[in-house]
Amino acid sequence: MLNPQLNKDGQLQHLLTTEGLPKAILTHILDTASSFVGISDRDVKKVPLLRGKSVFNLFFENSTRTRTTFEIASKRLSADVINLNISASSASKGESLLDTIDNLCAMHADMFVVRHSQSGAPYLIAKHLAEIGQDHVHIVNAGDGRHAHPTQGLLDMYTIRHYKKDFTNLTVAIVGDILHSRVARSDIHALSTLGVPEIRVIGPYTLLPAGMEQMGVRVFSDINAGLKDVDVIIMLRLQNERMTGALLPTAQEFFKSYGLTAERLALAKPDAIVMHPGPMNRGVEIDSAVADGPQAVILPQVTFGIAVRMAVMSILGGHSA
Ligand code: CP
Repeated sequence: MLNPQLNKDGQLQHLLTTEGLPKAILTHILDTASSFVGISDRDVKKVPLLRGKSVFNLFFENSTRTRTTFEIASKRLSADVINLNISASSASKGESLLDTIDNLCAMHADMFVVRHSQSGAPYLIAKHLAEIGQDHVHIVNAGDGRHAHPTQGLLDMYTIRHYKKDFTNLTVAIVGDILHSRVARSDIHALSTLGVPEIRVIGPYTLLPAGMEQMGVRVFSDINAGLKDVDVIIMLRLQNERMTGALLPTAQEFFKSYGLTAERLALAKPDAIVMHPGPMNRGVEIDSAVADGPQAVILPQVTFGIAVRMAVMSILGGHSA
């Protein structure tokens, strides 16, 4: 199985990663999301595209934005949404992930939205569903370990396209804890496929994975050099919960060397936008003056996330708009 997220006709069966997703599928998701953006302004915010379908939110790791926007998106598509309370579920009694999935399939689940601290957990579920003949059930990866966060990558692409229109003349910088970031990986794969000519990663060497250049990016340890003349800045959170050993001196030292301040933002193009997937650590990776400033598009990212997640789920469910 070369690309386990596509079916034999090349259509999206699961959304597991942006890596290897054809440009036509990426663009189709963004275009479909465009058709859903205006729905928030309508009196009736619902469309019946997933009526009668059951979407299970399985969040084995904390989330504010992703879990909530998936729930809103599912409801706007008229699906029945079931939020499994993981701490009160049989997972806490030692039930295996796949046994939990088998039981939810027995309840006629149509789609699982899965966040898990283990990289590869959504792949494992997708493979299992094929093996037990439940391949009509769809998986959406809502973030697995440090591997991938494809809907965050897609909403980031939507945001960039909204503000910058064309990917093919942009310089995009991703700043901070690249090593532990599933968002950075998902963004880099999507940006490359959509034709961004220059992708930069900026961070201390301890937080930059080896071999980044092989992903087609330019690596900078000097933030001032890395931010020069960029169009888009994507700040990342320091993922302290995924760090083992001493990779950094202190949060204050990190801010001094890599925090996005107004002075550093002035090195980018005057119309550069500032993004952050959240949750944000003010005073660690980003200064409040920038996070709340006129170039920040951090809250619009969250709003676009609803439309992008509606697009992904409606496409998986066999409808575009
Ligand atoms: N960006 C993101 O994944 O945020 P949450 O952890 O709040 O879902």
